[in-house]
Amino acid sequence: MKHVIESQQFDKETLIEIFNKAEELRTASSNILTGKVLATLFYEPSTRTRLSFESAMLKLGGDVIGTENASEFSSAVKGESLQDTIRIVSSYVDVIVLRHFETGSAKVASEVSSVPVINAGDGSGQHPTQAILDLYTIWREQGGLDNLTILMVGDLKYGRTVSSLCYLLGKFKDNKIIFISPSNLKIKSGIKEYLEKHDTNFEESSELNPHLQIADVIYLTRIQKERMSEEEYNNAKGLYGINQDNFHLLKESARLMHPLPHIEEICLPLAVEGSDKRVAYFRQAENGLYVRMALLLRLLSSS
Ligand code: CP
Repeated sequence: MKHVIESQQFDKETLIEIFNKAEELRTASSNILTGKVLATLFYEPSTRTRLSFESAMLKLGGDVIGTENASEFSSAVKGESLQDTIRIVSSYVDVIVLRHFETGSAKVASEVSSVPVINAGDGSGQHPTQAILDLYTIWREQGGLDNLTILMVGDLKYGRTVSSLCYLLGKFKDNKIIFISPSNLKIKSGIKEYLEKHDTNFEESSELNPHLQIADVIYLTRIQKERMSEEEYNNAKGLYGINQDNFHLLKESARLMHPLPHIEEICLPLAVEGSDKRVAYFRQAENGLYVRMALLLRLLSSS
């Protein structure tokens, strides 16, 4: 594995190895990446992805440089191409974590980089490291990755985390995915074709509550306001959510997940968020740290 560009590149065995390494890293620290440098180049905002990658590198003994607002604080503002920026940065560091607003940008970057490039989200394309941490969370919380009913809810058209997670779920057995979205934000046809090809059962629905009682995982997503017109957003917002009126419908063993940040699609009291095991999204975000540590080890020990 040279670069991390899309979920499809990970097979089952590799995923389980990453999960087992992430488990080890929860308790065992190591300075194995001393002397290595990671660059974060973020052309879109981020809290979790950038900071967890930076923390992962520091915890492994490495160093971090970067910019959290590359659109304004890099030479992109003077008109430099992404390719030139990556050529230069890759001569300074050992790995680049890139978030960019254009689908396909991570692939473009990987083609000119002399060091591994990790896709930290490319427009409405993919967010593979989020998908791996999502899958790791399901594996930890449900004890496996087969025979699950998973609701994917919200913006399924522009939400890159859902696309990336579907590509991974398609590798496991006897799961059922129920896609629930506003009519203007349905799951992409390419994802449905992939699931069909991998014999993964799925259906599309416009209702959330009737499915809550059978779900093992409810994966909610934010409507990606920044990727659509105001009219498209107004037609989609506020249609689906979890709050005190429907949270009680979830099975005790169900897990409520969200890549975060969430806005009005989750509205639960702090006490419920803090004590009810079914609320998994904060544990999910924490899991990102260990998964990203495991990925950095894998990339930098083989490069
Ligand atoms: N889930 C996720 O990508 O969060 P950030 O945008 O905060 O990185």
